[in-house]
Amino acid sequence: MKNLKTVVLHNSEVAAGYYRMKILAPGYVSHAAPGQFVMLRIQQLNQPLLRRPFGIFRVGTMPAECNELPQREFVELIYKVVGSGTALMSSLQSGDCVELLGPLGSGFSIAPQVENHLLVGGGIGLVPLYMLAEQLSKNGAQVRLLMGGRTRDDILCITEFERLGVETYVATDDGSLGEAGLVTNVLQRQLEHFPDAAVYACGPNAMLAAVRNICCVAGAPLQVSLEALMACGVGACLGCVVPGKNHAEAHPDYLCTCRQGPVFCAEDLAWPTQDGQHEK
Ligand code: FES
Repeated sequence: MKNLKTVVLHNSEVAAGYYRMKILAPGYVSHAAPGQFVMLRIQQLNQPLLRRPFGIFRVGTMPAECNELPQREFVELIYKVVGSGTALMSSLQSGDCVELLGPLGSGFSIAPQVENHLLVGGGIGLVPLYMLAEQLSKNGAQVRLLMGGRTRDDILCITEFERLGVETYVATDDGSLGEAGLVTNVLQRQLEHFPDAAVYACGPNAMLAAVRNICCVAGAPLQVSLEALMACGVGACLGCVVPGKNHAEAHPDYLCTCRQGPVFCAEDLAWPTQDGQHEK
């Protein structure tokens, strides 16, 4: 993990309200793992912006353009404009300065003996799944991406997954792309076909809870990548904690999303019951 003062290489809108930013990031190709994230700070503005966490979508190397411009490693982030910080980010252009702390956190574990892998993404939750799909495909595994969103605008980068050889299935609430309904219905059917599959999910909490219930019934191993508010990203502020499996009021058991996560095995977390409590 290091703190880089670096520059934006590219930043553009890829769907209504969603942007893709490429940032110069030496060292990321060999150090970033699927599921990790970065903390980003916009440097050149005098506003005291906190760093903000963003999942890593992809890392790579731009080819050398001439002798003076050698190969350059980059990291790509995909983000949704949801407030003033991300609105400011969306206005950045090539050459603008940013500060990048990372790669951070603990990513996905890949079980080499598992043949079938189901990746479940909800909206922007697709971001940490791309590097995972890349890694699994490289290993020769069977990878299926199940992607859900409210409308077609929430379904991003599907062709990039397909280029990796990943089979993709899309569900939207309004039926504007793929089948109409919830992505969890697709997961249920896929697990009937591939009962030995490992499942990896990232998306809204309600989707993760539904995915977890389906995986419990099917006996499928599940890893979830949690989205949490983070101030420091390195385990110092404790602003990102979530209850662990042994959590009780008398015996608190919290896990730090930025340091122990953002990816957790589902069985290590306390899951909320319908009355808002946590399962015992
Ligand atoms: Fe500060 Fe996790 S964000 S401890």
